[in-house]
Formats: sequence, structure tokens, C-alpha cells
Amino acid sequence: MKFTVQNGGVLKGHIRVPGDKSISHRSIMFAAIAEGTSHISGFLEGQDSLNTLRAFRAMGVDIEGPENGKVVVHGVGMQGLKKPQHPLDVGNSGTSMRLLAGLFSGLAFDVELKGDTSLSKRPMARVTQPLAEMGAVVETAAEGRPPLKIHGGKELHGIHYQMPMASAQVKSCCLLAGLYARGRTCVTEPAPTRDHTERMLTAFGWPVEVKADTVCLEGPAKLSACDVDVPADISSAAFFIVGASIARDSDITLKHVGVNPTRTGVIDILKLMGADIELMSLREAGGEPVADIRVRSAPLKGAVIPAHLVPLAIDEFPAIFVAAACAEGETVITGAEELRVKECDRIQVMAEGLQALGIDARPTADGMVIQGGAIQSGRVHSHDDHRIAMAFSMAALRASGHIEVEDCNNVSTSFPDFVELAAKAGLAITVSG
Ligand code: S3P
Repeated sequence: MKFTVQNGGVLKGHIRVPGDKSISHRSIMFAAIAEGTSHISGFLEGQDSLNTLRAFRAMGVDIEGPENGKVVVHGVGMQGLKKPQHPLDVGNSGTSMRLLAGLFSGLAFDVELKGDTSLSKRPMARVTQPLAEMGAVVETAAEGRPPLKIHGGKELHGIHYQMPMASAQVKSCCLLAGLYARGRTCVTEPAPTRDHTERMLTAFGWPVEVKADTVCLEGPAKLSACDVDVPADISSAAFFIVGASIARDSDITLKHVGVNPTRTGVIDILKLMGADIELMSLREAGGEPVADIRVRSAPLKGAVIPAHLVPLAIDEFPAIFVAAACAEGETVITGAEELRVKECDRIQVMAEGLQALGIDARPTADGMVIQGGAIQSGRVHSHDDHRIAMAFSMAALRASGHIEVEDCNNVSTSFPDFVELAAKAGLAITVSG
């Protein structure tokens, strides 16, 4: 599938982007192993979170929906999952694979997790290592890649894990295994990462202790059903936040967006670059802070991105790189080596795409140096990465001619109605192929 986006355009109106991907995954996982029935609203009906939902259905959990973002999960309790008949295919979803590896390590039977070509290249040793320390037995393919064969019937015990990289997926994997382990499981992180697991476990009735950079829980756990209101995904909103910032005369409001402080790095970074972003009607929904975000066009200037903001904006760099290309002067990003092991190598692929559009973008081992300039018409490849495809679509708002974006199928992993919503907001986008 290819997107063709005509240059120019203005983003206007009030829109609600789909539900938060991280929170949607976790809502299904916790509801499935809780006791009782949980009602979820605002669930992301994207392929990634649907793959998590299908995995639990394949393990005997009765799940109604999704219908207009509503899902009803009849929880089976911590030991109520049944052995699936086949390996579970989680497609493109790293979150499903890494979190489920932790959750399934404590079960009584074997489970195999596999993924698509992109996921099959991503590192899993970062989760299998701490799981092995907890007593789990997980086989991988060569070099710690998927598929994962998780052996059941193992007695897990709590550990204190010093996490070598800032990863909420690794942290959550350990905590989910910790729910099945005897004793106390703690994870110390080198920098703050998204804390949806901690918040949601508390909401499902299991206490999580957070002190400075360390999070701990006791096992074995017991969860009780809980209703979850999933806010709109700030990672999906980010494309519109950047789009409205760079497109002249834009004024857009993004409704009911999750603004958990472990996710708002994109707002801080863009504000540092001069963006005009206003958080309105701050409130709480289901244990997560939520706001309406108003964005108006503003002249952006280059910036040196502070390293502490990187993990708080880790999924938003494709969009931030586009903002940097439209800014006056130089933008320097460092400390973002994790971008090389996302759905694709986002440093390399974004640099090549920006260069194809006439921008001086120099990739470095752990980031990029971008000189703001005039975006030209051109064709770019997203390498089947949803966020690369959406970021380059927004670049057309400031280009001198149309932009073609190849390999856009995977946009449906996180943002199934991107084209319709972007067109409604004012992007001149069409789909072919
Ligand atoms: C996620 C954590 C992040 C992020 C991913 C979702 C999560 O990965 O990139 O899209 O839901 O925990 P890392 O924690 O590995 O950086």
C-alpha cells in the first residue's frame, strides 16, 4: 500500500485519535488473568493490540468485541489460561511478545510466540535474560531472536533486576513474571520509562511499590476485574501535533489524549523548539492523566534535545525528525540508540528518507544531526514501519511538491483510520496499491 500526499494544506478542527496502544495491550492482559468481568472502552482496534486479544482468546478467555472500542473480558484468574493449540502469532507487535513472554513464563504449559519479518529480527535476549534469572526457561532462535518457546511448569522466584536499557517492555516483562513468582520482584531502571503497568496493576487490585528508580511487587499475585477507559494515544496524536506545528495557519485540538508524564517528552521537545501547544481540561481517566491538546502553527527552531527526554518520547522520534527538518537551524539528538531496534532501524530509515526529500540529515550511532531546510517532493520508503509512514505523510504539509510513501500497510498496527482522520483534518492524502 502506498500513500500519496499532495503538498500544502492546513490542519484544523477537533479530532480524537485512536486508543493508546500500550494501555490497550495491558488492559487485555490484566483483565484476562483477573477474577471477574472487566469492561474496556476506547480500546485500540489496531493489529498490534488485536494480536494480544487473539492470543488470550486462543487460550480460552471469553472476550466480547471489540465494538466501537468496547471490549468485555471474562477473566479466568491467574491459572485459568489454557494451552493454545498453535504457536501464537503476534504479528508486528514487540509489546505483545515481550510482555507475554513474562506473563506466560509462570504457566503450567508450554507456549510458543512468533511474529512477522520485522519482529523476527528484534532482540529478545533483553527479556529472556532476566526471565532465566527468575527460573524461567525460554528458548529463542539464533542471537536471541523470535520465535520464543516458553516452557511451562517452572517455579519462578523474585529477583532484583538492574535493567541495562531504559525499556518499559523489559520492566513490564519482569513485573508480569513477578506476578507468578514467589517472593519480591524489583526492577531498577536507568531512566524513567512509561509506567502504565504499575498504574494498571494497582487498579486491578495488586499493590506495586515505586521508590525513586525502583519498582517492586510481591508474588504470587491475585488480580480483580477492573473497568479501563483507554485514552487517545499521544504517540498517534504526535503526528498531528507536529503536522499542525509545521503547516501554516493550522489550529487543531486533539481530544482526550493520555498525558502521562512518562509519555509527554514529545510535547516538551517541541515546546523547546518553539511549538505552540496548550494542554486543556487536564483530568484523570482510569488512573491516567488526560487532556485536550490544542496546537497552533509556530516557527520552529533547532535544538539540542536533552537526553533525559529521549525515553519519554521514544516512539515519537520519526515525527520529531520531521519537525527538526522544518525548523530553522540545527537539531541534535543523542542517546537514542534504542531507535535502531524498533519496528525498523528508525535512525537509518528516517535519515535516508529525509535525505531523499533534500534535507541534510546525518545519522549517528545514537541519534541524528538535522539541518532544517526546504523539504522537496520525493518518494520515501517506510520499511513497513507504521510510524515512519505517518511521519513522512505529515512532511508533505511543508514540502514543495507531493510526497509518496511506500510500504504503508502496517499503519493499521497502531492507527487503523489514519488516512480518513488525517484527510478530515486537512491532509491531502490518498491511498493506492
Ligand atoms: C512500549 C514501550 C516502548 C515503546 C513501545 C511500547 C510499551 O518500548 O517503544 O512502542 O507498551 O511498554 P521500549 O520500552 O522497549 O522502549
